[in-house]
Amino acid sequence: MNQNETPRVIAISSGKGGVGKTFTSLHLAARAAEKGQRVLLLDADLGLANVDVMLGISPAGSIQDVVTSGKSLADILVPSGYGFDVLPGGSGFHELTSLSSDQQQVMIDEMRDLGRNYDLVLIDTAAGIGDNVLYFVSAAESSLVVLTPDPTSLTDAYALIKVLSNMRDVRRFMVMINQAEAVDAQIAFRRLLSVADRYLDVHLDYVGNLPPHPDVRRAIQAQKLLPKVGSEQLVDHLNRTMDAILSRPRDSSRSSGLQFFWEHALSEGLE
Ligand SMILES: Nc1ncnc2c1ncn2[C@@H]1O[C@H](COP(=O)(O)OP(=O)(O)OP(=O)(O)O)[C@@H](O)[C@H]1O
Ligand SMILES: [Mg+2]
Repeated sequence: MNQNETPRVIAISSGKGGVGKTFTSLHLAARAAEKGQRVLLLDADLGLANVDVMLGISPAGSIQDVVTSGKSLADILVPSGYGFDVLPGGSGFHELTSLSSDQQQVMIDEMRDLGRNYDLVLIDTAAGIGDNVLYFVSAAESSLVVLTPDPTSLTDAYALIKVLSNMRDVRRFMVMINQAEAVDAQIAFRRLLSVADRYLDVHLDYVGNLPPHPDVRRAIQAQKLLPKVGSEQLVDHLNRTMDAILSRPRDSSRSSGLQFFWEHALSEGLE
């Protein structure tokens, strides 16, 4: 299938938790929507459902309901209020392993139909190198790794990239450094790059940083996205980094589209 006819799927992941994946996913979704793209954000973090809390929305269901009570994926979509849609994962991913092959096909068909409505699909994953994360990232067309310059975050990001490249053959990663001024972010990226270049067969593409700023917490507390509450300077900085991600060319060497993503993830056996 022509890649132009299928949505680009980007998985957002991190080695260490709490580095800003969900925050980044939401603002990437909002920025792409602002630029006219049709965007779906899949909340695939099975722990706390951060996406809806940060947006102040209440999903009426999750993928679990599609599996157990025959709802369609379209029934559980929630508008974000920022021009993109949210697909709440809930704990439904756990159910997917026990699907019969007929049920799996229903999910794949549902995903294909849903995918036709979008240009970009973002997957907000859990932190770490759990099986779920590995399946999602390796099934996606592109991968964005978020980290902070904190040494443990750097080490954990390296571990994630190592596992994904060695075990899942993911070779290209966009890297964003959060909670760091530009100079510190460059230093952190170079540190990651020098180890990765020495020991791994990967290509790391630095897309930018976001400085630490009290407006981020303010936005989260107000359950609003940064453009509604943040300073103009910070929003400009955030937009530059998001635009860098969105302007990267698609990866024609990898399969694309929501149903391919899903087929791949299911065939690997989601946990
Ligand atoms: N640039 C920033 N400046 C200040 N605080 C930030 C910044 N980015 C993130 N934070 C803080 O870090 C917290 C964690 O962010 P977020 O929930 O997006 O991380 P996460 O990687 O999705 O976490 P988890 O692994 O738990 O899913 C936020 O609640 C926010 O307070
Ligand atoms: Mg999160």
